[in-house]
Amino acid sequence: MNPELKRAAELAAAYIESFDTEKVSEEPNPDALRARLYKELTTDGLPPLQVIEELAEDARAGLLNSAGGRFFGWVIGGSIPVSIAADWLTSAWDQNAAAYACSPAAAIIEDVVAGWLKDLLGLPQQASYAFVTGCQMAHVTALAAARHKILADQGWAVEEQGLAGSPPIRVLVGEHHETLLRAVRHLGIGTDAVVPVAQTDDGTIDVAALRTELEKTPDAPTIVSLAAGDLNRGAFDPFDEVCDLAHEHNAWVHIDGAFGLWVAASERLRHLVKGVEKADSWATDAHKWLNVPYDSGIAFVADPEAHKTAMTIPAAYKVEVENVRDQFEWGPEWSRRARGIPLYAALRTLGRNGVAKMIESSCDLTTDMVNKLGELPDVEVLTIPIINQGLVRFLDPDGDHDARTDDVIKRINASGEAWFGPTMWNGMRVMRISLSNFRTTVDDIDRAVAAVKAALEN
Ligand SMILES: Cc1ncc(COP(=O)(O)O)c(C=O)c1O
Repeated sequence: MNPELKRAAELAAAYIESFDTEKVSEEPNPDALRARLYKELTTDGLPPLQVIEELAEDARAGLLNSAGGRFFGWVIGGSIPVSIAADWLTSAWDQNAAAYACSPAAAIIEDVVAGWLKDLLGLPQQASYAFVTGCQMAHVTALAAARHKILADQGWAVEEQGLAGSPPIRVLVGEHHETLLRAVRHLGIGTDAVVPVAQTDDGTIDVAALRTELEKTPDAPTIVSLAAGDLNRGAFDPFDEVCDLAHEHNAWVHIDGAFGLWVAASERLRHLVKGVEKADSWATDAHKWLNVPYDSGIAFVADPEAHKTAMTIPAAYKVEVENVRDQFEWGPEWSRRARGIPLYAALRTLGRNGVAKMIESSCDLTTDMVNKLGELPDVEVLTIPIINQGLVRFLDPDGDHDARTDDVIKRINASGEAWFGPTMWNGMRVMRISLSNFRTTVDDIDRAVAAVKAALEN
């Protein structure tokens, strides 16, 4: 066997096995890391085995062990081993997943995976799809289809005419992730077109306020953007009602379900996404809650014609094959990695029940952690988890709760026992608990809670 491939596999396995014993993060020291990694670019190169050994050693202190079970920052999943193994094969096969002719296997695998996903996530089987880098580009892809359709409805061909002089689009948003706004910018719609709609106390879009907004300018080409699981509370907009209302006004409904859409895989949690199938487009990630390696977002569009018109490009050198799908006609890229392959392996390994169990386990463990944190002195629980997100803060005897919260988070993270991120919520500094890693166990929760307790006592 090629020695550098063999050694890389050994090093990767050893890394994964180290999560229980290693710190979640080292105190980051950019200068030390630079000193290790900045090497002279040699004239004649180096032996590959040496390069792999040194890479693993030099990068180690700069690796955040977010793939381990005691990492609760941002929304970051791990990778189930079979998906890593399939990702290695994907690299070794080195297929260009641009078109069927470049890799028939990659094209068919993605088609199979898309069908499974639509089934698991409760989306219409006729919806078209694109495998993209992440939810950010899934937004871009889905909203390009939306832009096409709502302008075409008004006789404007945006792909040819551009946006200058077009009927002005408006984007009505409730709780939303910043990547949605960047998609709006990428598409030339511009953030001035974004109209925030009032929310109810539970963090979901206020349907009455949305109705008022829709009626204000009934003829404006409109996108309504909803959240399936927002970052802070994991709240779900009322899709059923909003889709009906928006469609009465010919608006396009887009759902950001970066992680929250996955609750549809669980019978117990599926009620949270009631009506999700009525939307016009959906954006999600597999690298979050399905626990596959990065580079794994997916866009789904209910209207395949709008989707394809927005994304396709003519290619004189296209190889025509009957009855197959060329991926470049549906996504924003040309050459790209065959990123559906790790999902294929993950879904075959987990099956429906495996996915459901993984999602439910994350939710149960998040509730467990928030309850246990709530029992500690001076911990204020701000939100009871709906799914896998929770918010707490740390109270200061002198009333400076923001500074105390920042300080406690720093201490926990410095301990290396667990990692949490800070954020602002309702004008308060808070600690967010976000759990989407299949590796997390009750023991990890108890270790993390003990780390919080120790940080509070110091
Ligand atoms: C709700 C939501 N939407 C979109 C994104 C962006 O996803 P990605 O980083 O895969 O582009 C995130 C990332 O955390 C998210 O939580």
